[in-house]
Amino acid sequence: MSQEDANLEARLAEQEAFEPPESFVEQANVTDQGIYEEFEENWPECWERAADLLSWDEAYDTVLEDGNAPFYEWFTGGKLNAAANCLDRHVEDGRGDSVAIEWEGELGEERTYTYDELLDEVEDVAATLRGLGVEEDDIVTLSLPMIPELPIAMLACARIGAPHSVVFAGFSADALATRMNSADSEYLVTCDGYSRRGDALDHISKANEGLAGVDHAVSDVVVVDRLGDDLEHDLADNQHDYDELVADHEGATVEPVSRDAEDMLFLMYTSGTTGKPKGVKHTTGGYLAYSAWTSHAVLDIEADDTYWCSADIGWITGHSYIVYGPLALGTTTVMYEGTPDYPDKDRLWELVEQNGVDIFYTAPTAIRAFMKWGSEYTEDHDLSSLRLLGTVGEPINPRAWKWYYKHIGNEECPIVDTWWQTETGGMMITTLPGINTMKPGSAGPPLPGIDARVVDAQGAEVDAGQAGYVTVNNPWPGMLRTLYDNDERFVQEYWDEYSDEATDEWVYFPEDGAKIDDDGYITILGRVDDVINVSGHRLGTMEIESAVVGVEGIAEAAVVGGDHEVKGEAVYVYAIPEDGYEDREADLEEEAMAAVLDSIGPIAKPEEIVFTHELPKTRSGKIMRRLLEDIASGNELGNTSTLRNPDVVDDIAEQVSTD
Ligand code: PRX
Repeated sequence: MSQEDANLEARLAEQEAFEPPESFVEQANVTDQGIYEEFEENWPECWERAADLLSWDEAYDTVLEDGNAPFYEWFTGGKLNAAANCLDRHVEDGRGDSVAIEWEGELGEERTYTYDELLDEVEDVAATLRGLGVEEDDIVTLSLPMIPELPIAMLACARIGAPHSVVFAGFSADALATRMNSADSEYLVTCDGYSRRGDALDHISKANEGLAGVDHAVSDVVVVDRLGDDLEHDLADNQHDYDELVADHEGATVEPVSRDAEDMLFLMYTSGTTGKPKGVKHTTGGYLAYSAWTSHAVLDIEADDTYWCSADIGWITGHSYIVYGPLALGTTTVMYEGTPDYPDKDRLWELVEQNGVDIFYTAPTAIRAFMKWGSEYTEDHDLSSLRLLGTVGEPINPRAWKWYYKHIGNEECPIVDTWWQTETGGMMITTLPGINTMKPGSAGPPLPGIDARVVDAQGAEVDAGQAGYVTVNNPWPGMLRTLYDNDERFVQEYWDEYSDEATDEWVYFPEDGAKIDDDGYITILGRVDDVINVSGHRLGTMEIESAVVGVEGIAEAAVVGGDHEVKGEAVYVYAIPEDGYEDREADLEEEAMAAVLDSIGPIAKPEEIVFTHELPKTRSGKIMRRLLEDIASGNELGNTSTLRNPDVVDDIAEQVSTD
């Protein structure tokens, strides 16, 4: 490292606050500091600003309907179609030739869709789905990797008013079946396979295995042929080749169905404390307005930008910030099929350079990997097109933040560290890049109009510097409306903790811990429930535990998250063999690994499975998870004398490799 670099490194390491660069502020979408006050004084009508970013078929009469809280309704009386907002209106505005999706395949293929082309394709697929019998409000499951057919199918569903339920392609057959069963979904769009690090990955066998676990009749399955001759597969009677079927509807005109603002746009399943995934319901008006507003205000997206979010569309980040928000604003959204290190570790920077990407949004786990690989991979690429960087999904430590700021942003791009959840639909706590000072490690203040607080167990706001829990004390348009078919669980999971039904005060509890500073900046500390965050993916420890204890020969198991340099957290399993199985630990380990892969997928693969004759328990028999987390993370262990069985801790700690 040159002396100059060393000086720069030292200066950055010390610096705790960063101002938005002047060059960014000059062109930012939102620069008026008064926006916070404006939203506060004019709440909830302030949200008309978000709704105004959309085209409505019929104007709404009420911004917020709160008579049946916490079942809030937004923009009631309004009618609109999400696909028409993402496509038709841009074409009608004369922007049909602008690029909507720039797709980059893993093997170097490229596909570019202008708004005209995307609209045509979406109409063909909408006609195809209708031709199969899909009606308004039927839930269509989509299990597709990062190929253009995924957003096309989403928008086709939206066009005919059929909510989609996208299941991340990396999920297991079981996970697909569980989600189709929960949503009573009778239609599936999937593919033969896809390419991963140059290998052809079979997806259809997994989809078929999942379909075998569906407890109701599945009327039709549409199969995209992504791999051509590289993967031969047979189609069952109710399975159709996507290209053939869509070709039959080429040139179709499908008028967008005018949906009520509160009609469901999609379901997205996510993990919670109990084993069963939760079907989060998002609506057409509020969700779309919120994803468009936050894309405008936080990501600073404009129609002539090239914007890239490196998430997978199978998660909420991809829904809100690859598909709906960016397309509603008429921008060019980049989609990348592959992984960041294939064929080499500079793949992403090559794509930024090649496409002249203006705005880049990724996860801290990726930044930690880039840091580990070293800055030489960025140096050969011209990244000067970038003007804004973002992160999402997990806390970013100041070191990774500064690396991102320096090596990717060249100290010229603000960074937005955006805190939000599947349930919130869009960003909630983050700086506004043209206004706020940035403090690495802290997400920032709540967005205008969002009353997020950090409170103690009783709901009283904590003092600056004290740890507490995040709550959101007023509703917002992008919020989930309920859990699919389970209003009771919705109230119980999110509202019971801090609300006061007697006074009709409703407080949303996201189950995250946090601290707040004197300037109102919130630093997220992580989940406070049994959910862990592995590489920005949210996993329920109970789901993993139930897979492990399903293995014959395993009597009991506890699953916790332990610190991991790149993944943030990794899955650690502690398991007790049944009597008579003690000598078969190697087999049990293999079976437990397989059980986790089968029930969830490779993202939940345990870092380590430790067999023990006992688990550390309190005198009342509760497993001491915190202690197991400390063991997994290699932390100093505190006082263990309150345990029923203190010796067991040393036994377990000895077996865990924390190098
Ligand atoms: O713990 C928080 C963490 O991710 C959780 C939400 O996960 P999911 O619903 O999968 O959505 C991820 C993408 C929005 C939150 O409860 N989280 C998300 N963003 C941040 C974060 N933790 C710290 N900082 C963030 N910026």
